[in-house]
Amino acid sequence: MQRTVFAVLILAAVGLLGGCDRPPKSVKGFVLPEGDAARGQAAFVSLQCTTCHRVEGVAGLPNPTVPPELVVLLGGEVHRLRTYGDLMTAVIHPSYELSERLPRVFSRRVPVSPMPEVNEKLTVAQMVDLVTFLQPRYSKLEPLYPTYGTGIQ
Ligand code: HEC
Repeated sequence: MQRTVFAVLILAAVGLLGGCDRPPKSVKGFVLPEGDAARGQAAFVSLQCTTCHRVEGVAGLPNPTVPPELVVLLGGEVHRLRTYGDLMTAVIHPSYELSERLPRVFSRRVPVSPMPEVNEKLTVAQMVDLVTFLQPRYSKLEPLYPTYGTGIQ
């Protein structure tokens, strides 16, 4: 009896390994719980994100303290819609993909985000709440003229 159980376990393990063709670093299966937008807004203020950011459609946040040309608007119309995953990455791994609103003074050729690292002080709950607060503020900008065939999108 014990031997049969053992054999079944081995077969299951081999089956799992053999059938697993996802790359080991795949994010498939990575799902975060629902966040809370109001708590996200509070975290946005307490983590001093407002030093450099304004948020489309949100009044009453502290004013940014960096010079106006360095202020980055979050939310509003963008060419490429920012998904939940994009924004999560933008917060915890900012240099991975720079915003289309990277201020001009910074170079895309040296792809390092001027945004400070927050991972040491950010809790998982705050991260989820921040993105729940920010994501619905984005909308996709429709091109004024269709650009079929030009390769421009
Ligand atoms: C010192 C200034 C500064 C601070 C403080 C800062 N950011 Fe940023 N942030 C930037 C800059 C500059 C960019 C544009 C470059 C990039 O994409 O990383 C950016 C980009 C972003 C983006 C990507 C926006 C998009 O539309 O692609 C998100 C989301 C974001 N920041 C969230 C936050 C949050 C949340 C905090 C607080 C925990 C924060 N930032 C604090 C400067 C800052």
